[in-house]
Amino acid sequence: MAASKNTTKKKPQTQTVRGLTIYGPRHPTIRKMMEKTEGPEIHGDKVWYSSYFIMDYLDNKPPAKGSRVMEIGCGWGLLGIYCALNYNAKVTGVDADKHVFPFLQLHAEKNKAKIKTKASRYEDLKPKILAKQDLIVGGDICFWDELVDPLHTLIKNALDAGVPRIIIADPGRPPFLKLARKCRKLYKATIKEVSITQPKKNDGNLLIIHNPEIN
Ligand SMILES: C[S@@+](CC[C@H](N)C(=O)[O-])C[C@H]1O[C@@H](n2cnc3c(N)ncnc32)[C@H](O)[C@@H]1O
Repeated sequence: MAASKNTTKKKPQTQTVRGLTIYGPRHPTIRKMMEKTEGPEIHGDKVWYSSYFIMDYLDNKPPAKGSRVMEIGCGWGLLGIYCALNYNAKVTGVDADKHVFPFLQLHAEKNKAKIKTKASRYEDLKPKILAKQDLIVGGDICFWDELVDPLHTLIKNALDAGVPRIIIADPGRPPFLKLARKCRKLYKATIKEVSITQPKKNDGNLLIIHNPEIN
């Protein structure tokens, strides 16, 4: 008997992007985790594509092997996992929402990477922990006007603490562009238009800040 459309089993949703295995939001494991816990609360409920802009950029301008990398607003942490696997980076994933961390650890285990996590808002990260980082990255993290000032506080604190490079990516939302223009004015940051074809075609922007005191 031919299987009807309704009874046909859908394939579990994982995809491989840049060598990373990534669970889709409708994968049964993800669904179960979402049901069991309260679930992410500030949009950390899937992998957002801006992280891929940074992976693409780092392929050409990689951090030194063994660098300390902090991924801010990490959500499921794929960008940090990419840095751990490709650059042997010691990665800390930071997010205000602790409910994202089980999803990050699921992906870290699946991809055989070790990632530390820290629950913190951007502006609360202390100079002591910032000073240890060689690179701070974040994809799709400036999506509300209220996030511009906290992210600027973090960037200023990080530069004052001696962090050499900060890279933030976004599809090009107005709050991100506001932050980016502020950083261009204050720190001679670069705003770069970028596009990717994997996992699918997308355009966006990178904000690249080199510490003026170091570079
Ligand atoms: C749109 S998601 C992007 C997640 C991940 N970077 C990605 O590309 O898939 C934004 C993330 O920023 C976190 N976030 C929002 N406001 C924050 C804040 N003030 N401090 C730290 N993290 C924050 C959210 O919890 C969420 O995980």
